[in-house]
Amino acid sequence: MTLKRRNSLPVLCCALGLAVQAPGFEPVAAKHGIVVSAEPQASDVGLEILEAGGNAVDAAVAVGFALAVTHPYAGNIGGGGFMLVRMATGEAGEAIVVDYREEAPAAASRIMYLDAKGDLAPEASVVGARAVGVPGTVAGLALVEEKYGKLGLARALAPAIRLAEQGFPVSYALSQSLQGGQALLSRFDGSRRIFLRNGKLYEPGEIFKQPELAHTLRLIAQGGPDAFYRGAVAKAIAATMEKYGGLITLGDLEQYQAKVRAPLEGRFRGFTVLTVPPPSSGGVALIEMLNVLEPLDLGSPNSYQSIHVMAETMRRAYADRAAYLGDADFVSVPVAGLTSPKYAAKLREEILNSKPEAPVVAGGPAAWSEGAQTTHFSVVDADGNAVANTYTLNGAYGSGVTVEGAGFLLNDEMDDFASKPGAPNMFGLVQGEANAIQPRKRPLSSMTPTIVLGNNRDSGFGIRDSGNQSPNPEPRIPNPGLRLVLGSPGGGTIINTVLQVVLNVLVFKMDVREAVTAPRFHHQWMPDELLVEDWGFSADTLERLKEAGYKVNARGGIGECQAIAIDPETRWRFGAADPRGDGKAVGY
Ligand code: DON
Repeated sequence: MTLKRRNSLPVLCCALGLAVQAPGFEPVAAKHGIVVSAEPQASDVGLEILEAGGNAVDAAVAVGFALAVTHPYAGNIGGGGFMLVRMATGEAGEAIVVDYREEAPAAASRIMYLDAKGDLAPEASVVGARAVGVPGTVAGLALVEEKYGKLGLARALAPAIRLAEQGFPVSYALSQSLQGGQALLSRFDGSRRIFLRNGKLYEPGEIFKQPELAHTLRLIAQGGPDAFYRGAVAKAIAATMEKYGGLITLGDLEQYQAKVRAPLEGRFRGFTVLTVPPPSSGGVALIEMLNVLEPLDLGSPNSYQSIHVMAETMRRAYADRAAYLGDADFVSVPVAGLTSPKYAAKLREEILNSKPEAPVVAGGPAAWSEGAQTTHFSVVDADGNAVANTYTLNGAYGSGVTVEGAGFLLNDEMDDFASKPGAPNMFGLVQGEANAIQPRKRPLSSMTPTIVLGNNRDSGFGIRDSGNQSPNPEPRIPNPGLRLVLGSPGGGTIINTVLQVVLNVLVFKMDVREAVTAPRFHHQWMPDELLVEDWGFSADTLERLKEAGYKVNARGGIGECQAIAIDPETRWRFGAADPRGDGKAVGY
């Protein structure tokens, strides 16, 4: 990979050595540490922690808590997610995934969202207390802070407490988002009072204070995760569940644990790709797709050739997602098979001999949508430690329910289960038996926080399975350097967003800002449609795709990727917040 530098440098505030996102088209350059998140004040919190001597984990935990204050439609303590951490220590570095995905309460059952006729009951899995999974965020952030942080949980929470207590100016984006959330938030007392000010909606520039949330965060700072899972906060969650007819009990909260898992590891043209295992489908699908694409000529970015080959690869990976993936602690998931080069070779063969399939669903595009309702942040510190974190309430503002007296929203992550196997969820994703609801099971996710490692070469070939002699065989890299840290929201589109940004950097040699900006497309097997971003593709290309048999539908932005690339030679860090959102990259 060559990180192109053009004539103009990013805006550098020289006295402080501070780099912030430049207006225009350059990534932010930083020599030491860099933070990219979807909300500028949260990015600043990450920088504050790095400059106070914290490492990437301290900064990530602080950003996670800060987003729960400043970015309430996705940032959270009432949801869950996945954090991929790669510490630069030792010969080969050390990487873990913290799975702090929500969990079905003990009283959950596979038919809980079906009506008497066996149909999906409207709203049941997306609105209100019955849609809520046991939240994992506090357990996950506390676990990783304890394992790798330097400053401790209380210090990492301090900026979030300050923002909640003293308030912060509401941005235009937040005021618009709160307005968009009105229909949902007005249905629940706490949400109506806190987020809608009982109908007097926040205008841009007004100060938004959240004293109840500040109190909750203080309790966590003092008592650790026990305050949330066993103490006063647990009692408030249980009481709110009772009030609104939810299933989560004190017992569900008490037994919740974040899980440390080994990252999935793939290889692509000489790079190592670290990503998340089940209960996310993201890592399996990403590696499956990279394996298929590795030896293929992808043409130029977003040409007919590359879109066709990639869309066919996406189609097959998402069909496998539906057929095989679920929480591997409950069902057997063939991770090794799906991510094997041999299986990729079979799919590749099929794709090279294929035409777009005949539509498998009749009619127009399915009625599904997603926005940037999940959020991703990426952090790299001066020592080269890296964090990629994606977490969520699922839909914007989750279930709409705010914990009474505790000031935070609860997720609607139960909708990520196959409430009725074979029927689409809110992202139009059709899912199977492997993802049916069971007590204590974690719903299948698409979140794909990812870290790419690589040596100094541009790229290799490393064709491992074709029998062809690679011109440049790529052995396992003994101590590969950090190359790319990224992730995205976007429901089912997340995996394809991450795939495209990775390919944009590794194959098409874009700099990181170009890579996150480039137009994106998406195929998820069902519905059988090729989604393309509005205005991103030439009419000629779209015409050719239609002629080839694709049902092409255009829509607004797909995903919102927050990414950091590292120059393999100079080790400078380059960050880019996706222009589809309001995020910020900041470094020093
Ligand atoms: O875990 C998942 O895959 C979903 N709950 C993520 C939701 C999401 O990305 C929503 N917004 N864009």
